[in-house]
Amino acid sequence: MFMSKYVHGYTERESQRLYDQANAVSGLLHHDTIYPPGSKVLEAGCGIGAQTVILARNSLDAEITSIDISLDSIEKARDSIDKEKIANVHFRQADIFKLPFAEESFDHVFLCFMLEHLQKPAKALLELKKVLKTRGSLTVIEGDHGSCYFYPESDEALQAWRCLIRIQAYLGGNSLIGRQLFPLLEQACFHHINVSPRMVYIDSSKPELMDSFVNKTICPMVEGVEKQALALNFMDKTSWDKGTQDLHRIATLPDGTFCYTFFKGVGIK
Ligand SMILES: C[S@@+](CC[C@H](N)C(=O)[O-])C[C@H]1O[C@@H](n2cnc3c(N)ncnc32)[C@H](O)[C@@H]1O
Repeated sequence: MFMSKYVHGYTERESQRLYDQANAVSGLLHHDTIYPPGSKVLEAGCGIGAQTVILARNSLDAEITSIDISLDSIEKARDSIDKEKIANVHFRQADIFKLPFAEESFDHVFLCFMLEHLQKPAKALLELKKVLKTRGSLTVIEGDHGSCYFYPESDEALQAWRCLIRIQAYLGGNSLIGRQLFPLLEQACFHHINVSPRMVYIDSSKPELMDSFVNKTICPMVEGVEKQALALNFMDKTSWDKGTQDLHRIATLPDGTFCYTFFKGVGIK
């Protein structure tokens, strides 16, 4: 079943984490994604709608269709769009690998934190390209867990972070995919490809970002794989607890710093 393969799961805590993540870095990731009035946009893998709200607000006159394989997530996404009184988004449960749309139906395709969970990201891009109009754009945003460093560093915190990378790989995903966006878009024969790194650097002069990104996005993401990390004997419980505490501590120390890079790629069909 697809759900057991999704490293972060579909819990309430993960839903909250996705909203916190989207809001913490919304300007950094979305400021340059604005679709023209009347254009038809497909958002693939919308999850609980954390990015959908930002996407729709930035392009209030575009017609957005947001899909996800999880019906439960789609329902949550619909609730948050309704709560925000946003009217330009339609939701549909659909699998990226069996898209229920005619070829060349959309002017633009958008996907965020989606390819990292797929065993076949290159195939997903080819499927999405089919429903994109010629000369339409595909925008893809992914993180790269290899881009993460922080101060103070401890062996246990580094090990806990590496568990996240190993477990996602174990489940068939790739949390190091950000660095591969250019070759993936090239393999799918997109033109005019542009990939830009979007670095989040935080120190104690930005307490709000420290809280929303480190405490509410990064730490819960690591803590979410505790069961698998211990079951797979990647770490013992004592080291795990110290590692996750050390990550949280970064956000409380006056000299704590944290760095992570997202990658945003745009290609034209
Ligand atoms: C990490 S979430 C990202 C959600 C959203 N884009 C965000 O950034 O908040 C990845 C989403 O991809 C969805 N997904 C995984 N495989 C899929 C597939 N084959 N087709 C459609 N959605 C899929 C999952 O259900 C999950 O909601």
